[in-house]
Order: sequence, then C-alpha cells, then structure tokens
Amino acid sequence: METKLLRGEQEKDLQEAARLLHAGETVAFPTETVYGLGANALDADAVRKIYQAKGRPSDNPLIVHIYDKKQLNTLTEHVSETAQQLMDAFWPGPLTLIFQKKQDAIPDCVTGGLDTVAVRMPNHPVALRLLQLADLPIAAPSANLSGKPSPTAVAHVQHDLDGRIAAIVAGGNCTVGVESTVLDLSGETPVILRPGGVTKEQLEQVTGKPVRYAAPFASAEETPRAPGMKYTHYAPEAPVYICTGTPEEAAEKISHQLKPHKGKAGVMLSAETLRLLKNKDENLVVNLGSRNDLKQITSSLFAALRYFDNSDVEAIYTESFPTEEIGAALMNRLQKAAGSKKI
Ligand code: TXA
Ligand code: MG
Repeated sequence: METKLLRGEQEKDLQEAARLLHAGETVAFPTETVYGLGANALDADAVRKIYQAKGRPSDNPLIVHIYDKKQLNTLTEHVSETAQQLMDAFWPGPLTLIFQKKQDAIPDCVTGGLDTVAVRMPNHPVALRLLQLADLPIAAPSANLSGKPSPTAVAHVQHDLDGRIAAIVAGGNCTVGVESTVLDLSGETPVILRPGGVTKEQLEQVTGKPVRYAAPFASAEETPRAPGMKYTHYAPEAPVYICTGTPEEAAEKISHQLKPHKGKAGVMLSAETLRLLKNKDENLVVNLGSRNDLKQITSSLFAALRYFDNSDVEAIYTESFPTEEIGAALMNRLQKAAGSKKI
C-alpha cells in the first residue's frame, strides 16, 4: 500500500485524513506526547488494521481520542467527580482516564475485551483539528511497530510504518516525548498505571488526594491492570545499561566501560555528565540536555534510542535521573529500555 504524506498545517490535507478515517483506513497523526496511529473506534475492521500494521498483540487495548468532552457520553455512562476535576484541569493534555465502558458503545477489539475504556483529549492543534473534522472517536496507539520506541518525529513513523498504513499527517516533533499518563479511578485511591506527561504531583494537587503508582508488573502469569505493561517496550537492539549514582559516579563508571570496549558503544547522557566523560572517542554520543531540565531530557529520549538502533553500537550506556515530577516517566521508560540492567 502507498502511504500518503499529508501536511498537518493544510486544512485540505486534514480533510483528506478525515475522509480516510471515515473510509475505515488507518492514519498516523501528531500529538503532544508521541505520534498516534488512528482508526475509527466504532469500526472493528478499521481497528483491526491498527493491530495488523503495528504487529500488536490483540489483547492490548487502545486509547480512544476525542476533541470534545461531550463525546464521552457515547463511550461511558458514569463520569465521577474526580474524573470531572481531572478533565477540567488537564484536558486537552497528556492524561488518559479509564472509564466503565457503555455497553455496545465500541467494538471489543478496541478495549481488548475489557469492560473499561481508556479516553484522552490530546493537546495538539493538528490532532484536535483532525478529530474535529472526522467527528468520530479515534482509537490510536503510538504509531510505531510493536516493541519499538514510540515515534516523536514524522521520520520515526515513516521508518516503522511506511507502506503499512493509508496516510501520515506530518506535524513536527512531539514536545512531551513520552506517552500520556494512564490513570485508573475505579478504586478509592487513583492509581497511575503508566507514568507520563501529567505527573503524580500534579494529579495530587488537583484531586487533593494521594495518588499511587501501580505495583511494577511481576510475572507473565499475572494480569496487569494496563495490559500493555506486560509487553517489552522501547527495547533498542543493543543492551542498555543504566549507570547509577551522581553525575561524577556515572561518568566514572561509563568511562571505565568505554576504555576496554571492543565494538562501538552508544552513550546518552545529560550535558553535565557528558562533560565529565572520558574515552568517548569513536563512540556515538548523544547529549540529552541539562539535568536541570528533565522535560527536555524526557523529550529527547526516544529519538536517541532510535538513533542507536540505526547504528552499529553494541551497547548503550546512560545515567539515572531523579524520579520526581516528569522524572518518574523518564526513569520508567529508561528502565524498560534497559530491562533493569544496571552498573
Ligand atoms: O500518549 C499516548 O497515550 C499515545 C498517544 C498516541 O495518544 N498513545 C499511546 O497508546 O501511548 P498505546 O496504545 O501505545 O498505550 C496505551 C496504554 C497501554 O499500556 C494499554 O494497555 C493501556 O493504555 N490501556 C488502554 N486501555 C486500557 C484500559 N481499558 N484499562 C487499562 N489500561 C488500558
Ligand atoms: Mg505504545
């Protein structure tokens, strides 16, 4: 299939993208978090094309994207006071809320057979305009091949999905750079199933209640509450090692690793730690930004992992970051990429 490249700033291109969505096709589009691969959430055949294009396991449910809170009525019958508060505070934005699904509202393949549905309103002018023109609930996972880092630039989407989907709407780089926070409000205490663009601290401030993280997923037999959490994610081809400690300690450990390194290594570090690094010649080095700006570091991460995937590095070294605020999402993604390999 030939994948059309459409321009997000052109109204007629967005109309074409909306037409394709209505025709049951898949269209990738930018959001503030990562690019999504959209299809009409009411059309089971269209949604199946998403799973096919990504090579995604069919029990991993999708997030439904909307542009107007009114669309919620078609998806769920009950919106709690806390959910209302959170939507008022963070929508449009990188927060996905889980609702009890309205019976027969959407096909089972969207929700992986669960009786709940995940919904978010993205904060990106191109995404919002496309959703408005289509005027449909749009199911959209990240627009990457399953198991690859989520795409934060249009080139990433083309690399993974060109020829496999109907169209890609180009709209620049994603500013948040990690996926939305997925929040479960079914119990007394709100539970973060996936840390993301909206932080635990922000959620606590708005709800006035403690919010907790879901326990890390333990075994393949257990059924995690966010089914996506059980799959390996964001793992680049070369092993990733997180070198712990202060910038001085991390730089020391990595310099030591690089000295006897046989093949080429990839190094992705903060500007501060990079300055302290020795033996970096002949290795691929990525400066993620300053440790004083963890948002910048977070938004650089997936592009760095993809850069190493397109190279011949045999190992990737990085450092650890504080887990407050956006650091929680950053370390969550780094740990997934590393599969807990630490030095
Ligand atoms: O930022 C984002 O959320 C991006 C952009 C495109 O909006 N989308 C995204 O979708 O990251 P995806 O499919 O890659 O991740 C969806 C996550 C998965 O971990 C999935 O298991 C979880 O949300 N999820 C979806 N529906 C759920 C439900 N009903 N209950 C619990 N978890 C759910
Ligand atoms: Mg994904």
